[in-house]
Amino acid sequence: MAGKRNVAVLTGAGISAESGLGTFRGKEGIWNKMRPEELASMEGFMANPELVWEWYNYRRSVLAEAKPNPAHHALAKWESACPKFTLITQNVDGLHQMAGSKSVLELHGSIKINRCLSCAQESSDEPVRYEGKIPCCSCGGRLRPGVVWFGEMLPEAVLSQAFRASTECDLFLAVGTSAAVYPAASLPEIAFESGALTIEINLEHTPFTESAHFHLAAQAGLAVPALYHAWSHCNMTASNNT
Ligand code: OAD
Repeated sequence: MAGKRNVAVLTGAGISAESGLGTFRGKEGIWNKMRPEELASMEGFMANPELVWEWYNYRRSVLAEAKPNPAHHALAKWESACPKFTLITQNVDGLHQMAGSKSVLELHGSIKINRCLSCAQESSDEPVRYEGKIPCCSCGGRLRPGVVWFGEMLPEAVLSQAFRASTECDLFLAVGTSAAVYPAASLPEIAFESGALTIEINLEHTPFTESAHFHLAAQAGLAVPALYHAWSHCNMTASNNT
């Protein structure tokens, strides 16, 4: 990793698994027990908003107890130490920001905000919660959780910054993502094809594993801090010598 000073990282649910949050796929995955079309789509919300709100309330209550783990903390330190560092996440949990990451490209939005279906206004401090009644905006429109659901477009500006960072970086890490959901899943491939050194950290193999230069079959909470230490050792030493 010596000399790699433009770093991009894509994280997925696996990075938050050691913080006690469930992942989506695999045997214990959320989508193995629940139906994404009911809980994470506009059609599902229109058909049964109470159910969708109850589920997001539940997730918010689990999240209220969750803390960032050593992988989140290592990425926050990496951002401060690296000349160019882009953190891209598919997670909506806000744990990167809680760990101290200042700039986070949230591809799938944030569970901590609500958005109005009528006026599109977003509210981020203390989002209104579902208490037996669908929450409403001051304009009278219904509120929905501020996450990206299946079939919806990703925030355009965020996505284009993520594409640019993946194209321009010289080191790309894919951490705890099944690389199954597009367009996020195309980012590691773009980085690989653009000539970056690509490292995947995942307990399992994914569709990206074949084209990653290295696959580290380890828990993110161990592997990410170890990689950060290795990176800072060779790059801080190199910059001290020049
Ligand atoms: P997934 O649940 O699809 O994948 C999580 C990955 O993390 C799996 O490949 C696991 O092997 C790996 N993993 C689990 N624990 C780990 C650990 N401690 N260390 C390292 N790896 C670990 O989650 P995502 O790839 O994030 O979208 O899923 C992508 C999107 O699908 C989510 O953002 C969500 C979901 O539907 C929306 O809700 C729109």
